[in-house]
Amino acid sequence: MTLFYEKALEDKVLGPFFVHELGDDMQDEEWLHHIDLLADFWLAQLNGEDTYYGNFIGAHVKMPVITPESFVSWIKLFSEAADEIYTPEIAIRFKKRGSELSKEFMQALKLKGQEWIQFKKKISSS
Ligand code: HEM
Repeated sequence: MTLFYEKALEDKVLGPFFVHELGDDMQDEEWLHHIDLLADFWLAQLNGEDTYYGNFIGAHVKMPVITPESFVSWIKLFSEAADEIYTPEIAIRFKKRGSELSKEFMQALKLKGQEWIQFKKKISSS
């Protein structure tokens, strides 16, 4: 998990989102909290444990310039990190669920794009 964030912080596309929301020091309180939260999130996703009840789609949709394309970078780095950390059997479970959820995010963001276009049309015609 930490390896993914080390990669993400250095990445041209993903880095700015994390620096903006959590800062650039992974030893900071906010970062430690995020990493704990994500460990709970993945326990819930992959082992069905009762550990995460947050609104993770909402946490991303509120980010101003996140686009479906940003998720292409996310999938790439996340897959690399999973392959480096886990055995192939475990890595494949992380990668499969990570890609499924990324697709859901992309759908949610496209919808946000459509709603935004409708909203702009509405205000420019009134
Ligand atoms: C472009 C791709 C992504 C970027 C830039 C990104 C960035 C971030 C950032 C900056 C936060 C912290 C938000 C805050 O504290 O306010 C966050 C939270 C989170 N992210 Fe992502 N993320 C991405 C994709 C994903 C994906 C694909 C997943 C799931 C597989 C995911 C799971 C989560 C979860 C569970 C949280 C915690 C939400 C909460 O309960 O507060 N992220 N993400």
